Amino acid sequence: MCYSVVANCLKVNRRQLLTAGAVVATCLAAGQSAIAQETPDYFRQNCISCHTIGGGRLVGPDLKNVTQRKDRSWLVNFVTNPKGVLDSGDPYAQELFEKANRVPMPLAPGMTRERAEKLLDLIEEESKLEESQFKGLQISNEPFTADDVTRGRNIFLGLTPLENRGTSCISCHSTYDLKALGGGLLGPDLTDVYNRLKGRASLSNWLNAPGTETMRPTFTGHPLKPEEIHSLVAYFESASKHQPADPATNRVMFLLLGLTGATVLMFAFDAVWKWRFRGVREPLVTSGKAKGEI
Ligand code: HEC
Ligand code: HEC
Repeated sequence: MCYSVVANCLKVNRRQLLTAGAVVATCLAAGQSAIAQETPDYFRQNCISCHTIGGGRLVGPDLKNVTQRKDRSWLVNFVTNPKGVLDSGDPYAQELFEKANRVPMPLAPGMTRERAEKLLDLIEEESKLEESQFKGLQISNEPFTADDVTRGRNIFLGLTPLENRGTSCISCHSTYDLKALGGGLLGPDLTDVYNRLKGRASLSNWLNAPGTETMRPTFTGHPLKPEEIHSLVAYFESASKHQPADPATNRVMFLLLGLTGATVLMFAFDAVWKWRFRGVREPLVTSGKAKGEI
């Protein structure tokens, strides 16, 4: 937009050219702050499900002061090509990998060396703060209660709406618990997600900033509240002690529901069609016959 304003000004006269200069300056300033915000946003979307800065280990190590532990060029290489560095047999990467229970660090989308440099600058700045904005969710050590589990189940089922108006989980997910109707099939069954996403701290942080293809856009602008995450994780922890719903049962139920729906629709169409015939065509046909046209 800035550029079209400038272009239009250029066409007109010198005085307006000066105005255009001011517009350009404003645009540049705005652009700069957009770039400055871009790196924290990128970190939030792509890194905080596995890393905190000063909040302890999740799936990956706490990144506080990482630039003091290891030199920059190694870190840039690693962040831009984690698999390559690990596969090259690099002993430090091997050690990190073992400590992370052999979970490999994934390559983040759109990663470049320039972006990696900016991320390391950000981590360096945040490491100096008493409390980084990326210290992660503060997760209590209190055991979950039966009430937590019930609240989580109600949230999952959509019986308790999400405070920030996110879409209820059951629209896209099922668990062992939903044998009768089954949940949505777009997302994976979440019966075992507590173990799959490595327990309370990791799963909570994951839900605090889901970074995957469908989850991210679904909850951007509708973040889950910390209390909602607490209850959902309590529900998933209790669910993880069960076997997932048999996908075959789910499919049969969906099919049956689908068939019933289709039959009802067929009857409905049939009724409407008959009515249309009587209402519109029948008089035409009868009068046509009477006139000897048919
Ligand atoms: C799926 C989890 C996951 C995500 C997402 C992730 N990492 Fe990692 N990261 C790890 C793991 C695990 C390790 C330890 C090395 C290994 O196991 O491969 C690691 C290691 C690192 C290290 C080296 C840490 C050290 O102590 O030397 C840096 C730096 C790093 N990650 C930065 C990032 C950045 C920046 C992002 C976001 C662009 C990111 N990671 C996203 C899991 C993740
Ligand atoms: C619009 C559909 C949709 C809604 C609503 C939705 N999810 Fe998801 N979810 C997905 C999909 C699809 C995936 C698979 C990864 C992806 O594409 O994002 C997923 C992945 C996940 C995962 C990671 C599973 C794994 O095994 O890695 C978790 C945890 C999760 N969702 C929890 C939730 C919770 C909790 C809610 C409700 C608060 C919810 N989802 C609501 C579609 C949805």
